[in-house]
Amino acid sequence: MNGIKIRGTGRSVPGKLVTNQDLERIVDTSGEWIASRTGIQTRRHCAGEETFSSITAEAARRALEDAGVPPDQIGACIVATVTPETLVPSAACGLQAALGLPEDIPCFDLNAACTGFLFALHTMECLLNASPRKFGLVVGAENLSRVVNWADRGTCILFGDGAGAAVVECREGWPSVSAVLGCHGNGELLRLPGPETGEPSYISMEGTKVFKFAVEAVPWCVNQVLQKTGRTVEDVDFFVFHQANARIIDLAVRKCRIPPEKYYKNIAEYGNTSAASIPLVLSELREQGKIGPGSRLLAVGFGGGLTWGGCLIEFA
Ligand code: ACO
Repeated sequence: MNGIKIRGTGRSVPGKLVTNQDLERIVDTSGEWIASRTGIQTRRHCAGEETFSSITAEAARRALEDAGVPPDQIGACIVATVTPETLVPSAACGLQAALGLPEDIPCFDLNAACTGFLFALHTMECLLNASPRKFGLVVGAENLSRVVNWADRGTCILFGDGAGAAVVECREGWPSVSAVLGCHGNGELLRLPGPETGEPSYISMEGTKVFKFAVEAVPWCVNQVLQKTGRTVEDVDFFVFHQANARIIDLAVRKCRIPPEKYYKNIAEYGNTSAASIPLVLSELREQGKIGPGSRLLAVGFGGGLTWGGCLIEFA
């Protein structure tokens, strides 16, 4: 099987900034508690003309531009999300129309919660091996502010909205992303009910238990990917982690002995944006020149499902 590499990245976050102080007026919390327990200072919320669809299309457009790949070269489009604007049509079908992607390609949404972008990268690698077109569009996008319970201080302070995208290319001889993906079906710890359940469509979470799961899952995924690829921490240029809580990242990097110049946190600015969080990091690192052609990245995600995953991916 041929592997994929990233050709270009893009992102879009809504302009509406919500600070910890804004949340102090909504729930019984303090900016200091939020900052010290999570690392979050602000998050962005969709409002007015900035919608899930508009930020998703903007992120995808920027990734295509960055990659220098015209829409007619795209062989598949996947949007990882748990908050699409409509279930039918999918967000990916919306992108097909908005960007003028070819009609004879698979476009679909994928739900693996916060691990969605990595499930989508692996799926894209499989699809492009069977496609005559060699470029794929992988997007992670969320409008989580629409599905938080504004009376629950344990969750409403955590989540934000945003979209990130990557254009990938598949070529003979390139290494696979060597994905390590998994799930443990659990409807108790982290839940976003659909309409059939009769429950309110809000996120609920047993935060401390999810935290414990995450601090085990992240180092485990790092080690599994390193083992699978025969690489070491030294061989990896940058580690890209799902941004759920700064303390989860701090504990994981300590356990894996990852030096500070090899990882990045933007959770202070955006909060937890679920499937968008990994591609948002990728796009910022790319813009800041911290990663680029030839860089080798190890990405790890975890979240609702429960799901987890890791990939080793290079920049073309
Ligand atoms: N402000 C002030 N106090 C609060 C707040 C708040 N916003 N939220 C909770 N507290 C209180 C609790 O009520 C509790 O008080 P008590 O001891 O009197 O009962 C106390 O703070 C401690 O609460 P914990 O829940 O134990 O706090 P913890 O340190 O675990 O932090 C947090 C909570 C930030 C949610 C943490 O557990 C976490 O980050 N969990 C992981 C989140 C995550 O990774 N999610 C996965 C991805 S999400 C997805 O897939 C969609």
